[in-house]
Amino acid sequence: MTGDQLATTGGQPAGTALFDLSGHVAAVIGGTGVLGGALCHGLGSAGAAVAVMGRSPERASARVAALQAQGVQAAAALIDAGDLASLQAAHRQVEQALGPVDILVNAAGVNSATPFFEIDLAEWHTILETNLTAAFLACQVFGRAMVARGQGGTIINISSASSEIPLSKVLTYSVSKAGINILTRYLARELAPHRIRVNAIVPGFFPAEQNRKLLSDERIHAILGHTPARRLGEPDELVGTAIWLASERASGFVTGTLIPVDGGFAAMTI
Ligand SMILES: NC(=O)c1ccc[n+]([C@@H]2O[C@H](COP(=O)([O-])OP(=O)(O)OC[C@H]3O[C@@H](n4cnc5c(N)ncnc54)[C@H](O)[C@@H]3O)[C@@H](O)[C@H]2O)c1
Repeated sequence: MTGDQLATTGGQPAGTALFDLSGHVAAVIGGTGVLGGALCHGLGSAGAAVAVMGRSPERASARVAALQAQGVQAAAALIDAGDLASLQAAHRQVEQALGPVDILVNAAGVNSATPFFEIDLAEWHTILETNLTAAFLACQVFGRAMVARGQGGTIINISSASSEIPLSKVLTYSVSKAGINILTRYLARELAPHRIRVNAIVPGFFPAEQNRKLLSDERIHAILGHTPARRLGEPDELVGTAIWLASERASGFVTGTLIPVDGGFAAMTI
């Protein structure tokens, strides 16, 4: 059997070639955070150039330096995720630095455990703007450029276990993530003729910045009691799913899906 035959199965590339992202450019909104950061390193390890997009210049520069140390071509672009002008400017900056973006990851997010009657409009708007409006705007800005270029692309939104049946204490967050699911499915349909696939990863529970205050010992106990794997997730455990969704060779017929990565949380009853 020749090397070429070994590398293909029924005309499809096999093994690592399925997941090779060399020549692709990924923009990770919220790449400064815990899960977004893991996704930057994961997509970079698969060969993509990576734009780290976030609010904090220090965190963005540190992430870019870490990626470059890993041998990944990387650049930072500062944004306020809910602000259209900042996304447009950052998009131009990223394309100048790394080339056209064909992988967009929406991983910015905030959360708050406020009792229902105490949620004020400012908090309601901040959470919806950061978690949902930001993804909507990024899909417009980056999606429009993907359509204009005509070479396809992929969008990966980060949803939540709270997006279908809401978790206790986090109403606004749950509403925003329900919106992410709808955005994902709606856009999958709308953008399919342009070979742009839109999917969401639905993480279970991973210790991070935005949920540090929420994950009390009591809540972790309740979560683990509802998680067949009986543990919280490690950020790196999202990477394989993201690379698979980012690679057209690996998941070219997959669009409009919501993929749980949650230790079985979504499948649990009693
Ligand atoms: N950690 C979990 O268990 C979990 C579970 C399900 C979904 N998620 C989602 O994963 C994504 C990443 O969250 P994380 O858990 O890594 O939290 P994180 O707090 O570590 O990261 C969130 C990132 O979003 C950035 N951000 C917030 N507001 C922003 C704004 N206005 N403009 C630009 N950037 C902004 C933060 O600076 C940070 O870098 C979020 O969408 C979150 O809702 C997380």
